[in-house]
Amino acid sequence: TVQSNIMLWSHEDTKNHWPARVDDSHKGSHGKVGIIAGSAGMPGAAVLTTSAAVRSGAGLTQLNTHGNIFGSVVNHVPEATLFDRKDDLESFIEGKDVIAIGPGLGVNGETSRTVEYLVNEYEGTLVIDADGLTRLEQLKMQIKKRQAPVVISPHPGEMARLIDSSSGEVNKNRFRISREIAMEYGMHVVLKGPNTLVATPEGEIFINDTGNAGLAKGGSGDVLTGMIAAFLGRYDQPQQAISSAVYMHGFTADYISEAGIGVETITASDLIDNLRHTFHLIR
Ligand code: APR
Ligand code: MG
Repeated sequence: TVQSNIMLWSHEDTKNHWPARVDDSHKGSHGKVGIIAGSAGMPGAAVLTTSAAVRSGAGLTQLNTHGNIFGSVVNHVPEATLFDRKDDLESFIEGKDVIAIGPGLGVNGETSRTVEYLVNEYEGTLVIDADGLTRLEQLKMQIKKRQAPVVISPHPGEMARLIDSSSGEVNKNRFRISREIAMEYGMHVVLKGPNTLVATPEGEIFINDTGNAGLAKGGSGDVLTGMIAAFLGRYDQPQQAISSAVYMHGFTADYISEAGIGVETITASDLIDNLRHTFHLIR
């Protein structure tokens, strides 16, 4: 039965499915990732999501954001190319293997219109997080119809908004809700929090057991979104990519705290800086 399809995604699973980076590869073999994030008032979300994608091994990363924040983005992550939000989205989606949308966009009409456009017109893998997660119920049929995977990564509050419930209710019924939404929309659901769940369109659930309270801070979710996008560009199987990204995000927080750094002081930027150590440990 569907009820029994609950599994732990372990260290061994992450290790066994780690994608090889072969010597004769080129940047195109590791995924062309697009990130739609940030706004004039929230440049940090764009920087964190984009840096996390770059550090997670994406071949090429392009950020679509507000022109006003280009300067600060370049200072933090010169490896990414930039795309002005004012320009034509059609040319942004061209050639991308994965697009992640949401962090720091603000909940507004432009954000929902962009999500709708991507669901209908973009043919690659789509990751929707944070401010992108509004009024998705109106897009249910279009999401279901899509060929390429859709991934959503709500925290309990965002999931509550999506299903018109409360975070308390979501937390009480996290297994049932993540599975129901995943199956109903035909998408992958990453329901965040301690022991993040990854539910697949087939109704399986993979539980994560890494991470600590050092992640309970603004910005760590943005890092996860960048990691998920980059991993999706490097794996053939979406669930393996998503679960491995979730695993490594928490594993990196654990690595930092085991190095003697208190969970109070861990920052989202620390996670990105330490990926170079944790990726080395896993492969
Ligand atoms: N243990 C393990 N992991 C945790 C814990 C914990 N106690 N607390 C949080 N996490 C992990 C989650 O699983 C998730 O991966 O940290 C990440 C937090 O992600 P988000 O909730 O998306 O946080 P983020 O977007 O960075 O910041 C919160 O969202 O709703 C807005 O206004 C709110 O500014 C706030 C922002
Ligand atoms: Mg978030």
